[in-house]
Amino acid sequence: MQRTFILFKPDAVERRLCGRLLARLEDRGLKIVGMKMLQVTSELAAKHYEEHVTKPFYPLLEEFITSGPVVALVAEGPGAVQVVRGMLGATNGRESAPGTIRGDFGVSRQMNLVHGSDGPEAAEREIAIYFTPEELVSYSTGLDKWVCADDEKDA
Ligand code: RTP
Ligand code: MG
Repeated sequence: MQRTFILFKPDAVERRLCGRLLARLEDRGLKIVGMKMLQVTSELAAKHYEEHVTKPFYPLLEEFITSGPVVALVAEGPGAVQVVRGMLGATNGRESAPGTIRGDFGVSRQMNLVHGSDGPEAAEREIAIYFTPEELVSYSTGLDKWVCADDEKDA
């Protein structure tokens, strides 16, 4: 099963949307295998958004992502990376399709509520930045057999 990294950004926490956002992930059949609340520091922001550090918008992005507590999660499921990216919608909330998180809860390019890894390598990198191996759990539930058939689990 694939794992992906998810971050409920400061706007999601501030707007008290975490419960509804978590419910969306659970409703989709994703299994939460790591979750914690933390404050992103400037150093952590630079590690997470490594590819954006030199971009003109980075100072505003850093200010935003360090502006309040966040909730970091690791979710597991078939094709979890792509599934979560689809659930987020386009980066800019104004362009996100209705039915996506960004398309249902916002209209901003910066305050777009949730981060999701954009590929399997990014997911591995980001999970390792935010979580130690001991903070992640592996477990089975009775629901597992209803999430997908055995031959769909490879993704
Ligand atoms: P994320 O990494 O947070 O999941 O968002 P994303 O993949 O959809 O978008 P990305 O291009 O990776 O940008 C990361 C975050 O930076 C802010 N941003 N601002 N002012 C700008 O032009 C601009 N572009 C991006 C957004 O908060 C975006 O989520
Ligand atoms: Mg990104």
